[in-house]
Amino acid sequence: MPSVLITGANRGIGLGFTRAYLKKGWEVIATCRNPEKANELKGLSGNIEIHSLDVTDFAAVDSLAGELKGRAIDVLINNAGILGSPSFEKGGAGQTLGDMDYDGLRHTLEVNTIAPLKVVEALLPNLEAGKLKKIITITSAMGSIEAMEGEFISYRTSKTAVNSIMRNLSIGLKEKGITVALLHPGWVRSDMGSAAAPLAIGESVAGLVAEIDKLDLEHTGCWKDHTGETIPW
Ligand SMILES: NC(=O)c1ccc[n+]([C@@H]2O[C@H](COP(=O)([O-])OP(=O)(O)OC[C@H]3O[C@@H](n4cnc5c(N)ncnc54)[C@H](OP(=O)(O)O)[C@@H]3O)[C@@H](O)[C@H]2O)c1
Repeated sequence: MPSVLITGANRGIGLGFTRAYLKKGWEVIATCRNPEKANELKGLSGNIEIHSLDVTDFAAVDSLAGELKGRAIDVLINNAGILGSPSFEKGGAGQTLGDMDYDGLRHTLEVNTIAPLKVVEALLPNLEAGKLKKIITITSAMGSIEAMEGEFISYRTSKTAVNSIMRNLSIGLKEKGITVALLHPGWVRSDMGSAAAPLAIGESVAGLVAEIDKLDLEHTGCWKDHTGETIPW
């Protein structure tokens, strides 16, 4: 069975991915910051192993790559992310002009933009050894330049920038047979998305998994949502 490595697998969309791939019978390498507190994740059964990983901790990323040395990973899902503000309801506190939290901006870039690049770099040998060779990054339509609305500056910028990074990687990795894709999950009822969101986690994840299944080298560098709709940059 194929294998998938998921970051931020303890709750929200990451936990949804973990459930979905376990149901498909895949080998799941689930990573999260605090496995000891990840009770829902630890309660799942199937072909799963859980590793501790704060994606901003480069030493930990390298150490995980060391632990996984020689093992094939078919699909990497860079899912871990932060909004950079307490909640959608609070309207992006610290992310508007006149109210900028610059440490918050730096941290949001660390988690949402820089860490996915580091994770790809560290796990590249595993992906090259895999059969499916797919790198997926969960981005947001809020990163679309055309859709900017003057708020959530840190979050939006971090997603625009990770789109740029992955689009860049898709060029060089094509010759290695590795497909790179950016996926927007829709507005989802997770802790980040809030209870006001229209989409259940399961519904979004079912669409995302179907899109990941369909991806091949021909689609590398694409940006789609959970329904397969292409999103303007
Ligand atoms: N929900 C939406 O409507 C929506 C829309 C567009 C895009 N997205 C994107 O979808 C992805 C998942 O979001 P979600 O809605 O599931 O959010 P969530 O419910 O807030 O979950 C975020 C996950 O990321 C993890 N995480 C945060 N910082 C981390 C770090 N430094 N290292 C490792 N893990 C870290 C969290 O772990 P802890 O439990 O340890 O904090 C948690 O597992 C994110 O990239 C987000 O930007 C979501």
